[in-house]
Amino acid sequence: MRVAIIGTGYVGLTTGVCLAFIGHSVTCLDTDESKIRALREGHIPIYEPYLEEVLEEARPNLSFTSSYAEAIPDADVVFIAVGTPPTPSGAPNLEYLSQAARSIGQNGNGNFTVVVNKSTVPIGSGNWVGSLLRDAVEQSSNGHKTDFAVASNPEFLREGTALHDSLYPDRIVIGADEPRALETLYTLYRPILDQTFPAPVFLPRPDNFAAVPLVSTDLASAELIKYAANAFLALKISFINEIGLVAERVGANITEVARGIGLDSRIGSRFLSAGLGWGGSCFGKDTAALIATAGEYGLHMPIVEAARTVNSRQRDRVVEKLLQELKILKGRTIGLLGLAFKPNTDDLREAPAIEIAQKLIDRGVRVKAHDPIASERFQREHGKMGVCLCPTAEEVADGCDALVLVTEWSDYRELEWEQLAKRMRNPFILDGRHALDGDKLVRSGLRYVTIS
Ligand code: UDX
Repeated sequence: MRVAIIGTGYVGLTTGVCLAFIGHSVTCLDTDESKIRALREGHIPIYEPYLEEVLEEARPNLSFTSSYAEAIPDADVVFIAVGTPPTPSGAPNLEYLSQAARSIGQNGNGNFTVVVNKSTVPIGSGNWVGSLLRDAVEQSSNGHKTDFAVASNPEFLREGTALHDSLYPDRIVIGADEPRALETLYTLYRPILDQTFPAPVFLPRPDNFAAVPLVSTDLASAELIKYAANAFLALKISFINEIGLVAERVGANITEVARGIGLDSRIGSRFLSAGLGWGGSCFGKDTAALIATAGEYGLHMPIVEAARTVNSRQRDRVVEKLLQELKILKGRTIGLLGLAFKPNTDDLREAPAIEIAQKLIDRGVRVKAHDPIASERFQREHGKMGVCLCPTAEEVADGCDALVLVTEWSDYRELEWEQLAKRMRNPFILDGRHALDGDKLVRSGLRYVTIS
């Protein structure tokens, strides 16, 4: 099938590359011409494991443009994967979405075309996008009366494993109020639903992974599934962090508690890692948007609100722990290990490291930091904060009164901790992710504390 993808961010580029890889003819569009030029030259603007490799294999089926007139007319399916960044109220900013919908509507060629919301959009946006498309068709100068149908196909990609999550998803959700749209998307995704595409050598199909469940439903349900999934995952993390508070007081081991409850198949062991809590572009944005949408109907969501409150508090607890250890923060030097919001990505959106660094700087602390991948992006996006970026973790440790492990990059587990302890002014480390071997660090001469 012929596919157009509007937006070449994490979601758009990953979706386009995967659909091209399984055999569809895909045109990726972005209004940022420099991005399009870079993509045409094979340069990828984001760090996502295997994306470059899959793109190279899919290249014969892929093209890049900044022209809607080029991307839209022949497309059977158009995915909208533009940003919907949060506004101060929590409601998402939909200007990019509405601009994309209008541009799509103005460039149809008269054939039946399915327009798919891949971006996380407020519940009810499908109908709104449909009205924008109809208005644009009316005003279209090319004389075509394209028959557009709108669908929702929420993404569940985790950064750092986006290619795996796209080719081997837990499920595919499609929502539409027109059967033709559902049928088109079912055809589009057949190779993934039936797992009939040849698996990439570097990203093999998981054992016994033979089929993917399809949830084919109405528009509103598909849109709500996305928010409910992210809100529940965020809630699960905040739940274990709330239990962690009690564990710390009663002397329990929160990692053991998480293991003990996670073995209950009704709970499941994933997303029960206690620590600094969630960051990233999704959980904060989607829980805020869900609360804002509920608010439009006069509804409150105390559980989702609580998940956000608990998560925000985890960053404050870093300062509390450091004050307990150092008594005075002003004039101290504190090193952060890890900046990205999680390992295997360079994404800094809502990264705990940024909020923690700011809290420390506001208290007169000299902050040093290292990240194996995200330092360059940090310098570009947050260079004015005054954080001293170091090329190695060892240089972060030099002269430090404390280290904080913020992002659990595997590199940090392999450090020569005895050496680091000797380089520090005060050999103390706060492990924000329960990622390090506390006994080994104590044997190396460090005082080791966790954020439970
Ligand atoms: C998330 C959802 O998982 C994905 O389905 C959705 O499409 C987009 O948002 P992502 O934000 O990329 O994906 O990362 P994820 O792996 O979910 O982690 C989110 C945050 O939660 C990270 O900051 C991570 O450090 C934190 N986390 C995760 C925990 O604190 N504890 C856990 O047990 C798991």
